[in-house]
Amino acid sequence: MRKRDIDTPALLLDLDVAQENIAAMARYFAARSQKLRPHFKTPKTLEIARRQMAAGAIGITASKLGEAEVLARAGIGPILIANQIAGAQKIDRLFAIAQKVPVIATVESEFNMQELEAGAARAGRALDAIIEIDTGMNRCGTESPEETIELARRIGRGLINYRGVMGYEGHAVLIADRAKREQTARDALAILSRHVAALRAAGMTPEIVSAGGTGTFDIAGSWPDVTEVQAGSYVFMDGAYRHVRPDLGAPALSLLTTVISRRGDRAIIDAGMKSLTNEFGAPRGKDLAVKVERLSEEHGHLNAAGTEIGPGMKIEIVPSHGDTTINLHSEYYVVRGDEVIAIWPIEGARAYR
Ligand SMILES: Cc1ncc(COP(=O)(O)O)c(C=O)c1O
Repeated sequence: MRKRDIDTPALLLDLDVAQENIAAMARYFAARSQKLRPHFKTPKTLEIARRQMAAGAIGITASKLGEAEVLARAGIGPILIANQIAGAQKIDRLFAIAQKVPVIATVESEFNMQELEAGAARAGRALDAIIEIDTGMNRCGTESPEETIELARRIGRGLINYRGVMGYEGHAVLIADRAKREQTARDALAILSRHVAALRAAGMTPEIVSAGGTGTFDIAGSWPDVTEVQAGSYVFMDGAYRHVRPDLGAPALSLLTTVISRRGDRAIIDAGMKSLTNEFGAPRGKDLAVKVERLSEEHGHLNAAGTEIGPGMKIEIVPSHGDTTINLHSEYYVVRGDEVIAIWPIEGARAYR
């Protein structure tokens, strides 16, 4: 099949570009003590996870149990679940995953510990865990070294094994100004280091110190206390990252759409918010001259002034945020040049439980 024969809207994955993005990140980590545990929340397909593991990743990071279940069924691990899991139903699923592949859970409070210990007693087995530290994102995580130490001591007392800490500097990753992004990341990592130093002084040196996203992979990836980086978007380099890190790889992901109307300067494509998200701003075309002005439910409004865009034409749009757009789809049309060479299932799509 050729690209132009694909029914639209359809997600395209340019395999050579994605493979080069995977290889470039693997090269960065190959020669350093910090390692890569790529985040599954972006690609959500086993095909990419397998390629990342083959390129040297030390495991996979996941955010949702549903994603971890997809990985575990395929025997891919160890899995770091970089998110708190709450509720007995989910805790039992977590222990079921741990029977298939090694899993590391993330805790931030006494509440998590009580749930995990009750789950460990029900399952009759131990589980590894790290502590999430809030390094300035103001989401989850402990807020002082004292709180982290208390939680680490608490972990060591029962069936849950203390393995280390994580601190994701999500408030830094998408800052476009390079100096500001790097400084914000360093400030966040300095907070992480204060917690690590306190743990060391208390005799609880963390074996795992996880941080970093695509925007800051090289700051986190060269920070002495960090042992692993949980970047995800680097495989596809979506529209937001194309803008923030033009020094990294090319976009490997696009949404193939069909123009259904042209009136004056306005052209309409057959992709709206049900197949393309815009929480990081309106997406642009693969060809940057194509500007999407807004999305409605089923329609994308293009500014077509000065272009030859007309009904029936197929146009590739680069999602501004890959993760949430991918989540709307069930398969990638894998292309090399103009040729469709495979169709890959997105096994982790909508695995939001
Ligand atoms: C906890 C956590 N780690 C890592 C990432 C990956 O970041 P990126 O997509 O910038 O690579 C995210 C993204 O939101 C995240 O929430």
